[in-house]
Amino acid sequence: MDNLDTVIAAFANRLRLAHHVAVLTGAGISAESGIPTFRDAQTGLWSHFDPEELASPAGFARNPTLVWRWYAERRVKACAAQPNPAHYALAKLDKHVPRLTLITQNIDGLHQRAGSRNVIELHGSLHRARCMADGSLHTTWDYAEELPHCPDCGALLRPDVVWFGEMLPQTALEKAWAATLDCDIFMSIGTSGVVEPAASLPRIALSRNATVLILNLEQQTAARPPLFTINGKAGEILPRIVKMAFPV
Ligand code: APR
Repeated sequence: MDNLDTVIAAFANRLRLAHHVAVLTGAGISAESGIPTFRDAQTGLWSHFDPEELASPAGFARNPTLVWRWYAERRVKACAAQPNPAHYALAKLDKHVPRLTLITQNIDGLHQRAGSRNVIELHGSLHRARCMADGSLHTTWDYAEELPHCPDCGALLRPDVVWFGEMLPQTALEKAWAATLDCDIFMSIGTSGVVEPAASLPRIALSRNATVLILNLEQQTAARPPLFTINGKAGEILPRIVKMAFPV
């Protein structure tokens, strides 16, 4: 199957019959919204910093103000960005299939803004902060403060994102595994699949006889059902797939 229309039609046919669709997304799905990847965001002033200085527990301990400046800037950019047709296509798909589990490695909140519900955030969120004293989570804080503090107890807050050297949140990870084991369709979108668990999840879904779609920009090896691979922009391909599977 090498013709794009044929691949889209064949995958859409399977999607129409799905019981449980699990979707894993990565930085590529937000690229068309203008959200740079972690490394791409390291331009200008930020290019002088080692990534570990900006995104590790040790870096935060050394210079929390610097780390908060970095995340405040990324949060402002994410708020200014808009979900793109790929985010909206997944929100639409959610309404048509009996069950959809959306697992994302992104921290920008664009899936939720496009209308997706129950998003599993494997790497946390730019829009949440965590109290260093008691671990409580906060979705609002004093954004004007360079070094925000917990509105309840006054302790230092940290961005609720996963940093280098940290474990992924246990509950989110368990839900992602459970969905991968249970789904009959697994879609991996805009992720290079080099870091865990993105590296393993599609393979595990395949081994459980799920139909798997890998969609990203990069050259991929040829595949045949139940593995589908498409090289292309998520914002162009995903709406076509969802429209073909569910025209209304
Ligand atoms: N449509 C589809 N795929 C795209 C698009 C697009 N418009 N633009 C880029 N891609 C693909 C790229 O080809 C690449 O395979 O998205 C993938 C992005 O890969 P990464 O930048 O490695 O992002 P991700 O897989 O989410 O990384 C996982 O690792 O580096 C850390 O912090 C980073 O949380 C991230 C994690």
